[in-house]
Amino acid sequence: MTKAKKKIVYVCTNCGYESLTWLGKCPMCSEWNTFTEEVKETKKEKSKKLLKETEVFSLNNVVVNEEERIKTNVDEFDRVLGGGLMPGSVVLIAGDPGIGKSTLVMQAAAKINGTVLYVTGEESVMQIKLRSTRLKIKSNNLLVLAETDLDTIKSTIKKVSPSVVIVDSIQTVNNPDLENAAGTITQIRECTLSLMGEAKKSAFAALLVGHVTKEGFIAGPKVLEHIVDAVLQFEGEKNHSYRILRALKNRFGNTNEIGIFEMHSDGLSEVKNPSEIFLSERYGNTTGAIVTSSMEGTRPVLFEVQALVTPSGFGNPQRVATGFDYRRLSILLAVLQKRAGLRLSSHNVFLNMAGGIRIFEPAVDLAVCSAITSSLSNKPCRESTVVIGEVGLGGEIRSVGNIEKRIQEAYKLGFENIVIPKNNIKSIKRKSKINVIPVENLVSAIEEILS
Ligand SMILES: Nc1ncnc2c1ncn2[C@@H]1O[C@H](COP(=O)(O)OP(=O)(O)OP(=O)(O)O)[C@@H](O)[C@H]1O
Ligand SMILES: [Mg+2]
Repeated sequence: MTKAKKKIVYVCTNCGYESLTWLGKCPMCSEWNTFTEEVKETKKEKSKKLLKETEVFSLNNVVVNEEERIKTNVDEFDRVLGGGLMPGSVVLIAGDPGIGKSTLVMQAAAKINGTVLYVTGEESVMQIKLRSTRLKIKSNNLLVLAETDLDTIKSTIKKVSPSVVIVDSIQTVNNPDLENAAGTITQIRECTLSLMGEAKKSAFAALLVGHVTKEGFIAGPKVLEHIVDAVLQFEGEKNHSYRILRALKNRFGNTNEIGIFEMHSDGLSEVKNPSEIFLSERYGNTTGAIVTSSMEGTRPVLFEVQALVTPSGFGNPQRVATGFDYRRLSILLAVLQKRAGLRLSSHNVFLNMAGGIRIFEPAVDLAVCSAITSSLSNKPCRESTVVIGEVGLGGEIRSVGNIEKRIQEAYKLGFENIVIPKNNIKSIKRKSKINVIPVENLVSAIEEILS
């Protein structure tokens, strides 16, 4: 006989670390004030362990039916998923309150070929109907269930055998066998595991909507991110209508892909050419601004790098980077100082990737250096020019990937010149009408760009 025993534990909401006492700082992830009280049920070990019959397989003998991905038919969404939803997989979509998570999953649900079960724990069926009318959704395959009880959800799944199950949100689902309230870490983890088991067994894809905490983490412990197959973050600025869907983790696709949407009163529309929106608000050829290109997944995206360099009055000069890694900025400032002789120690440097984009690629280094030099010297950069290149610590300009795609995109958007690393010249096979300027080191590159 197994006997359930209850005990109180304290769990870190950030990483899932368990402790018998409350702690101010988590010893595992070093975060402060993250411990919450949870009731834990432990089952007593059976006195005699029964040996389970298990089977091992040689990988060569395992036959796989090439499983078809379930297309959401929203291209930007499918791209981030790596081509569609895998049957049996669990995808978590997280984002700030009101960013448009329910809108996104509902629009995708209406376009999926196959039955979709939309489980809502936050809104009533009436509210869902109102939203679907606003989004002009007409679908016979979309079934709505307003329920939070895990067992009822599971039995409904068995009854309607859908191809996709959407749970909005996983924080509202409640497993009645557990003493904890809905939304606690144990509940979120157990409900996700249970739905995951069901998804694998019945080969449907599950889309779970998740909340983020005020610090921007996905509510629930990090273990949740480990359990699911993909974690997608839906983000955007409150004051902009653009929304970006980004894969933080994907077991079945590239995590660099982003999907770009624009929010309207009748729902989200896809942005097929992101460069156009990022460049739409450019203001002439001012000092400290230059266009560069970054690969977002398989697409090159053109956007403007802006720098403002001002003399600092007292104390330490400020360095502020928006959309760019702060440490990378410090490195580039040191290279500019040492290799190009720029005096920046008594200047504030403010750097911004225009349009709210976040960049992690070193290919924008040269553009950052050019924008800073342009602002410091008060000279505008060369007109109608795109600048690409990684800057090494020695001041050398290093080659970047996907050069042809970047050149094509710059040409398509009407730019006349493109500055690229010299070593990239040999990898260009297709000639383009754009004027290609190869550069080898930081000093000569800046001379070309500011001329
Ligand atoms: N009538 C409307 N006109 C324009 N935009 C609207 C309208 N109604 C809703 N929206 C947009 O939709 C957003 C809310 O979308 P949605 O309910 O999908 O967000 P959510 O991320 O699911 O929110 P929650 O975290 O509350 O579940 C609003 O913030 C607003 O931008
Ligand atoms: Mg919602």
